[in-house]
Amino acid sequence: MPELPVRCAGIALRNPLLLASGIWGESGESLARAWTAGAGAVITKSIGSLPRPGYPNPTIESYERWGMLNAMGLPNPGIGEYPREIAVALGAGATVIGSIFGGDAEEFASLAVAMAKTGVCAIELNLSCPHAQGYGSEIGSDPAQVEEVVRAVTDAVPLPVIAKITPNAADPAGLAAAAERGGAAAVSAINTLRALAIDVELRRPILAHRLGGLSGPAIKPIGLACVWQIRERVRIPIIGVGGIASGQDVLEYLMAGASAVEIGTQVAFEGIGAFGRIGRELSELLERLGFARASDATGAAHFATG
Ligand SMILES: Cc1cc2nc3c(=O)[nH]c(=O)nc-3n(C[C@H](O)[C@H](O)[C@H](O)COP(=O)(O)O)c2cc1C
Repeated sequence: MPELPVRCAGIALRNPLLLASGIWGESGESLARAWTAGAGAVITKSIGSLPRPGYPNPTIESYERWGMLNAMGLPNPGIGEYPREIAVALGAGATVIGSIFGGDAEEFASLAVAMAKTGVCAIELNLSCPHAQGYGSEIGSDPAQVEEVVRAVTDAVPLPVIAKITPNAADPAGLAAAAERGGAAAVSAINTLRALAIDVELRRPILAHRLGGLSGPAIKPIGLACVWQIRERVRIPIIGVGGIASGQDVLEYLMAGASAVEIGTQVAFEGIGAFGRIGRELSELLERLGFARASDATGAAHFATG
């Protein structure tokens, strides 16, 4: 894995390729393996106040060429149990970002306090899961609630706070602006898009929860548009997420305005070897196009269009 150091949200990252929340993050061991494989940082699965089993199966439908539909239902062991997993990842030397989800500002703040004690370097707020009742995008689609949650968390903990923005709203850039007003150190965009798959033989939706979230290559142009529009509205760094499967995809997100990226579905499809491959591709592409550092490419497509 080539060294491509960047700074984002006040964090020094060895490279801009982060493991996205919810993929490979079940255990400390799996987080540690993603780190060893070359991820610039690893983001935990989203952790709530209490253990949650998630939705019944089927929870995932895969489409080989263009992505994946999931309705996991935020399964997690709860903040009481999960710190021991984070300790394992930290023990392996990983840069760990803790992801949390709550039902209101108060719950987010108390989760953040508990998460901060684990030794993570930043906290990502899941304000964007499209299929968990009372959580995620149900809170994160309203700018006033986004600002309130982010402010409560930034007041409660000294760590950088990253607000993860939903694309399932009329104005994702407005949500990012609300997060900036609330004191976020960065925003990440995007989470999955609300989506449905139908089994015609059974005449019913494929996922047990019916509606799910779409990820993978199909959503890359939507993620890019969100990052582009957010860059025009906010000054804090942006972490691009959605459909990244190659070094070129990463560079597209950087040029649209991202300072770093998260990779999820491609890691689920290819395994953690994806980090090394995508890192090498990015490094070669940056060199060929004359960028001395990854950060030099951030926003380049905006400068070109004036
Ligand atoms: C199976 C699965 C589980 C996910 N779980 C979470 C989660 O717990 N918290 C979260 O913020 N995002 C979660 N996501 C969303 C991803 O972090 C990411 O935002 C999204 O999948 C788009 O990136 P990708 O196309 O690279 O997968 C999940 C995605 C998938 C496919």
